[in-house]
Amino acid sequence: MLSSLRIASRRVATPRLAAVRYASTWANVPQGPPYSFAGITEAFKADSFDKKINLGVGAYRDDKGKPYVLPSVRTAEDKVIASRLNKEYAGITGVPEFTKAAAVLAYGKDSSALDRLAITQSISGTGALRIGGAFLARHFPGAKTVYIPNPSWANHAAVFKDSGLQVEKYAYYNKDTIGLDFEGMIADINKAPNGSIFLFHACAHNPTGVDPTPEQWRQIESAVKAKGHFSFFDMAYQGFASGDIHKDAFALRHFVAQGHNVCLAQSFAKNMGLYGERIGAFSLVCADAAEAKRVDSQVKILVRPMYSNPPIHGARIAAEILNTPELYEQWLAEVKGMADRIITMRAALKEGLEKLGSKHDWSHITNQIGMFAYTGLSPEQMDKLAKEFSVYATKDGRISVAGITSDNVGRLAESIFKVTG
Ligand SMILES: Cc1ncc(COP(=O)(O)O)c(C=O)c1O
Repeated sequence: MLSSLRIASRRVATPRLAAVRYASTWANVPQGPPYSFAGITEAFKADSFDKKINLGVGAYRDDKGKPYVLPSVRTAEDKVIASRLNKEYAGITGVPEFTKAAAVLAYGKDSSALDRLAITQSISGTGALRIGGAFLARHFPGAKTVYIPNPSWANHAAVFKDSGLQVEKYAYYNKDTIGLDFEGMIADINKAPNGSIFLFHACAHNPTGVDPTPEQWRQIESAVKAKGHFSFFDMAYQGFASGDIHKDAFALRHFVAQGHNVCLAQSFAKNMGLYGERIGAFSLVCADAAEAKRVDSQVKILVRPMYSNPPIHGARIAAEILNTPELYEQWLAEVKGMADRIITMRAALKEGLEKLGSKHDWSHITNQIGMFAYTGLSPEQMDKLAKEFSVYATKDGRISVAGITSDNVGRLAESIFKVTG
């Protein structure tokens, strides 16, 4: 009886299912292009050569090429778990112990900004940029156009466009010197309409690894002030660039000291290795505490319908580190350790190329800073590196220095030498 019932229901169901299958709601959704690193990952995986090198990764690797969880993060996480806190929602702007400490880390403990700051926890640096973009799109009194460097982190334009801003580019990179196009940058700051929005990478510019010197930042600040521009800092690598959290925050702190009421996107993905925990902060320096209170209320109005309130685990780990003096000291040493390994690998690559007798000037490899190096190699040369030498990175010539190890740097130098001479 049971089986005949089943058969009967199947007989009825089949034609009805077939009848509704004729038109899909999503039939006209076009296939999007693959992400630039998706191709690298696939090609890398498919390559069976055991000495293949992946320099496309946007995350730190230790000297064995393995993902690295900072010991300070392990300790902080153990403490968080051991304290058996509840899992209630955070407020809309996140865990206050985290946001307060994040502000001190970025602006400095004696900063005048701290008493007139609106700050919210965010879904890492990307989420901070997204909240910032949305806030400017809704409340910035001038033109809703943001100027970003050319080139910039691949996601900047998309984040800002999706936030409702127009995106323009300012000169940044000089491909002839593989360095900063300082004159071009100042000229574009001067050319933009008064009161425009400018996005600056606070340190460790991605993708070029080219940062202005402190003296150049001073001149950039003067030019920005003369034009009445608004500055948006993206600080995704504080401490990770030079190994010193204060040095890496120089530009941000200088602008604030010179009277700019900037806004800031912070990420703890790289400097705490909390990539997948998605922990960051967005802050706006206001004229005074009363203005900060009003701005804070509007930030909440933006965040609430986006994701209601942020996740708590990463914020608790970061807060534990930033608010526990011994753990904080340990973390500073570990960030410096990561930065130093990267600086050492840059020097080893340059030295390797010179020892092989390369005729090119490779000083840009060590002049640049942070996780990425712009090698100056052409797309064709990058292709050759992948196909003939199993060295994988993006076509724009950017390599992730974090993917270089004591073991593979020699082979990498040889491969680049064979491709470039
Ligand atoms: C310049 C820059 N800004 C922001 C981010 C955001 O990263 P996340 O959202 O992982 O914090 C990145 C990550 O690579 C970056 O390079």
